[in-house]
Formats: sequence, structure tokens, C-alpha cells
Amino acid sequence: MVKFVKQTAVGREKGWGQLVKLLEDRIRQDGQVLGADVLKVDSFLNHQIDPDLMAALGAEFHARFKDVDITKILTVESSGIAPALAAGMAFHKPVVFARKHKSLTLKDHLYTAEVYSFTKKTANTIAISTKFLGPNDRVLIIDDFLANGQAVEGLIDIIGQAQAHLEGVGVVIEKSFQKGRALLDQRHVHVEALARIAAFENGQVVFEQD
Ligand code: G4P
Repeated sequence: MVKFVKQTAVGREKGWGQLVKLLEDRIRQDGQVLGADVLKVDSFLNHQIDPDLMAALGAEFHARFKDVDITKILTVESSGIAPALAAGMAFHKPVVFARKHKSLTLKDHLYTAEVYSFTKKTANTIAISTKFLGPNDRVLIIDDFLANGQAVEGLIDIIGQAQAHLEGVGVVIEKSFQKGRALLDQRHVHVEALARIAAFENGQVVFEQD
């Protein structure tokens, strides 16, 4: 069973509050709630990227997973790459991103998984070369959003195919009201979410209280 520290009073004691506040303030200031369940954060995460914020997020992931001996960070293109790279720079470990599109150079010797996007209503095959993941790897998954958890489930499937070990999942923004977090908790996965959104109310973001 994987040990994990809940993001409550323990997190505050460990000094995690500052980054969380910075990120929540940024989401309040620049985020836009679209409809019932989508948050647009394309001014710092999903389109334009704030490198200083990414560096701070990477350091925070490192602080939260520092007791875990990882060999590799895994994510999915495209929006997972920025926070995953920031974490890779903090851990000094390689970052591998699953590709969603067939490429000239990525054709053979692949692990693949089907990922359905509820947001985009499309299914994608994600693929990672067998060269970059194997039985000796201890993996930290990093992604921008945890919503329905389909992307993370696809990566966990691939980690299983490679006989590698999942050590934890770090996400920048979790929408706790969607089912992804519950799915990972059921599997006893160590999850660290830097901003946890409880709900959208009247176009405003309501964060989980710690
Ligand atoms: P998942 O990420 O938990 O698997 O959830 P879901 O299948 O619902 O999400 C599908 C895509 O939509 C994912 O990106 C995910 O990061 C993104 N997403 C989910 N909720 C939100 C949201 O509230 N705001 C924004 N901006 N994105 C959200 P993707 O398909 O992998 O696309 P991309 O990484 O190429 O951008």
C-alpha cells in the first residue's frame, strides 16, 4: 500500500500553503469558468505558459514527492509537458510524454492505450516507445488537469504493460467534483494536487477548504 499525506493541516505544516495560494490566486485572477465544468487557463498553462510559475510548480512537486525514489516522469502531450518538464528539472530525471498522433519516427515497438476525452468527446490512442519505459522504472505521472482521470488511467495501463512501477501522480489542477480523483484514491495511488477545485458556482471557482 502506498503511503500518502493528505493536503490538509499536514500540508500547511510542511509549508505547502504558499504555492497553493499563489496558484489559487492566479486561477481566480486569470481563469475563466466555461459552462458547468470547464476552467480555461490558457494565459498561463494551456496555451501561453508562465515559466516562473511552472518552475515553482516543479519545485512544489519535488517537495511533495521527495521521499519517493523515481527514475522517470511521465505525461501526455500537449498540456502536460510544461509542468512535467518543470518537475523533471527539479528532480533531474527524464521526462517522457505519451504521443497522441502517429509520427514518422514513432511507429514500432510501442506501448499504447486508448484514452477517451469527455471534454473533447473524442478517443485518442496514446503511445510511448518501449525504448523509454521498462521494468526498472519507478514513475511519477504529472499532468495539468485531473478531471475524469482518463489520461492518467491510460498512462497507468502503459506503465503496467512496461512492468514499471507507479510511484505517484501530481496534477496542477484537480476538479474534485469529477471522478478522476476518486478513481485514483480507490486504487490507493499517492496523488498530490496543487489546486483542488470543489465546484464552480455562478462562474466563480470554489476551492476545497483545508
Ligand atoms: P482527464 O484529463 O482527467 O483525463 O479528463 P478528461 O478526459 O475529462 O480531459 C480531457 C482533456 O481535457 C485533457 O486534455 C484534460 O487535461 C483537459 N481538461 C479537463 N478538464 C479541463 C478543464 O477544466 N480545463 C481545461 N483547460 N482542460 C481540461 P487533453 O485532451 O489531453 O488535451 P491537451 O493536453 O492536448 O490540451
